[in-house]
Parts: sequence; C-alpha cells; structure tokens
Amino acid sequence: MKELFPLLAGDPELVYLDTAATSQKPKSVIERLERYYRTENANVHRGVYELSEHATRAFEEARRSVARWINASDKEVIFTRGTTEAINLVASSAGHLRLSPGDEILLTVAEHHSNIVPWQIAAQRAGAKVRYIPMTGAMRIDLDAARAMINPRTKFVALAHISNALGVIHPIREVIALAKKVGAWTLIDGAQGAAHLAIDVRELDCDFYAFSGHKAYGPTGIGVLYGKAEHLNAMPPYQGGGDMIERVTLEGSTWNELPSKFEAGTPHIAGAIGLGAAIEFMASLDLPATLAHDRALGVQLLEALTDFPNVKTFVKPGDDWIGIVTFAHASIHPHDLAAICDASKICIRAGHHCAQPLMEVLGVSATARVAPALYNSRSDIEAFLKALRKAEQLFA
Ligand SMILES: Cc1ncc(COP(=O)(O)O)c(C=O)c1O
Repeated sequence: MKELFPLLAGDPELVYLDTAATSQKPKSVIERLERYYRTENANVHRGVYELSEHATRAFEEARRSVARWINASDKEVIFTRGTTEAINLVASSAGHLRLSPGDEILLTVAEHHSNIVPWQIAAQRAGAKVRYIPMTGAMRIDLDAARAMINPRTKFVALAHISNALGVIHPIREVIALAKKVGAWTLIDGAQGAAHLAIDVRELDCDFYAFSGHKAYGPTGIGVLYGKAEHLNAMPPYQGGGDMIERVTLEGSTWNELPSKFEAGTPHIAGAIGLGAAIEFMASLDLPATLAHDRALGVQLLEALTDFPNVKTFVKPGDDWIGIVTFAHASIHPHDLAAICDASKICIRAGHHCAQPLMEVLGVSATARVAPALYNSRSDIEAFLKALRKAEQLFA
C-alpha cells in the first residue's frame, strides 16, 4: 500500500503511525488536485464562461460523490472546512432554533473538544445545560447511564462515531434510538468514523453527520456536514455572504436554497474535488478488510506492550475497536517518547488528543497514541517497540 502514497513511497525509512490526526494522501488525490489547479481552476456558481462552468460541474459532481457515498441527497451535503466547522454550524444555527433556558444537550465524556466547546457556547447563549454520558471501566459508553439521562428536556444528543483517543466505535445506533424517543436531534461526529466505516446516514437515521476530508485520504480544509433537509431548511444561516443569498436589498436579504444557504463565500473548490477523488479511493478499498488489518496491528502492539510493566493501556480489543492504542508510561512523558520516536523517523501522537475531559477519566494528563492504518505493517509496529525500548533505557 505504501507505493500508493507518494510521501511514504518517497521516504522508506518514515514510519507514520498518526493517521488518526490526519491520513497520508494517495497519489490519485494529489494528482486530482494538481489537475484541477493546472487545467480547471475558476470560481464556481458565478462565471458564464466554459472554464467556470466546468469548475462548477466538477465541484457539484464531488458533492454528488459524497452524497452517494453516505446515501444522502445532494442538497443535504454542505461543504465545510472540516468536522469542527460542521459541528459549530449545527450547535450555533440549530442551537438558535431549538434551545431554550433549562434545555439539555447530551454529549459523552470521551468527546473531542470540537464536539464539546461549540455545545458549551450554544448552551451558555441559550441558558441550556450540557450533560455528559460517562464511560464504563472498559472505556465504553455507559448505555444504562445514557438511558437514565435522556429526558424530554434533551434537545440534542451529539457523540463521536469513533473515539479518536480510544479507537472505540460507539454504539451510535442505540444512542440514536434513545434520542428519538424524546425527539432530540442527533449529531454524529464522524471525524474518525468516515475514515474507517461505510456510512449510510439514512440507515443510521441520524439528524446530522459531520466529517473531515483530511482524515479520510482527502485534502485539509474541506469537510462535510450532512443534515436532514427538513432541519437544514428550518435552521437560520450560519454565516452571511456571497452565494448563500437569494436576494439582497439595503433593508434585508433572503436565503438561497440548500445547500448554498450554508455555504457563504467562495468554497474550497479544489478541496471538494480532491475529496471526491478520496471517496473514489475509499470506494476501491475493502473497508472491513482494512479495518481488520488496522485492528491486527493494534493487537500486535497491545500484546507486545504486556512485556513493558511500566506501560498502562486503557482499552481491550473487540469488534468495536479500530486498533488505536493509547497508553501511559510510569516514567516517560508521552512528549519525550514522541521525541525519541521522531529521532528514528517514527511519527506518533502525544498529548491530550483534544480530549481533556477523557484524560481526566483516564487519570492522566496525556497519553501516547499509536494509530495504525492501511499503509502500516507489522515492521512499523516493531520499529515503534524498538524506539520504546530505547526510551526506557534512556529514562531508566
Ligand atoms: C473525533 C474527532 N472529532 C473532531 C475532530 C476535529 O476534526 P477537524 O480538526 O478536522 O475539524 C477530530 C480530529 O482529530 C476527531 O478525531
């Protein structure tokens, strides 16, 4: 697989184990971006000349690819800068629409900050309250607690499809079903989910699904918000500007139809087209086999880590786990470990993974995270273990 990824193919010594932060890009995506800028570049939805009309067609074709991939209609696919902007859009706009003093927003303690802070802001503005579903000792969502917490005041339930810090696939179907019982709107943070699983938003029956292109083999700066058309139609615009209007007068403005209503200004045209190429790449993969590969590498690492008495891991493998290994070391700070890995050209993540509340639950301030992907092999895990042994010698 490394041969399909120019950055990895160009540097055989590099061991990239930080795919949960961002994936490497396949050649097909890089070439599509280059082709767009070399031969197709023009602004969209504006020009009456062929080059602009061609760019518009390519941009809208990318939207259709996304829509087909997640089983949505084109109008329900809003291009955003990424997961973060998509969640902010919903928390702000749907928050305005639905939240009153005393209402509740239900999240989990394992969320990425992107799926906490926008809701805290929305709650503060409306006088609503954010509540958090706890984790079980096995670092899985406590569904009994969720059942007890959801009530008629719950207006939104928002959670990650897959935890970026734990690699655990959350039981989103069960949570969506609970939310439906009280009429709460559900938002799934698919930043990690869309990169590993086939997504069918109709089958999930979630109200919103957000993801980033860059974690799913696509470019940075482009992401997707799926939302049910009836909700998006009812929600006020998130940002004002070009393209999102139907008519502007000095007295006021009216809004364009979906999806333009939520896409103010010149969009990331190349990014959307690159995301279309990334989706083609994902469609060419056997996603369950890829997941099994990543999980096997995670298991290889977890088993090897049992020989390191100073290492504490937090998650046991299961069918609901994608192979991400997060761990703490009794005497080596994750940042020191990451620096030692870097000296051997091994990229791992160290820190709180934008999930500080989860770190509190784990009883640490930071962890090291190894996130294997389709272009990693058993030898990459061995290279990491060698660096860990070296770090232990240095810090002994
Ligand atoms: C679970 C999860 N949610 C949200 C985000 C934020 O994604 P982005 O920075 O691409 O907007 C990330 C990124 O790490 C993530 O892993």
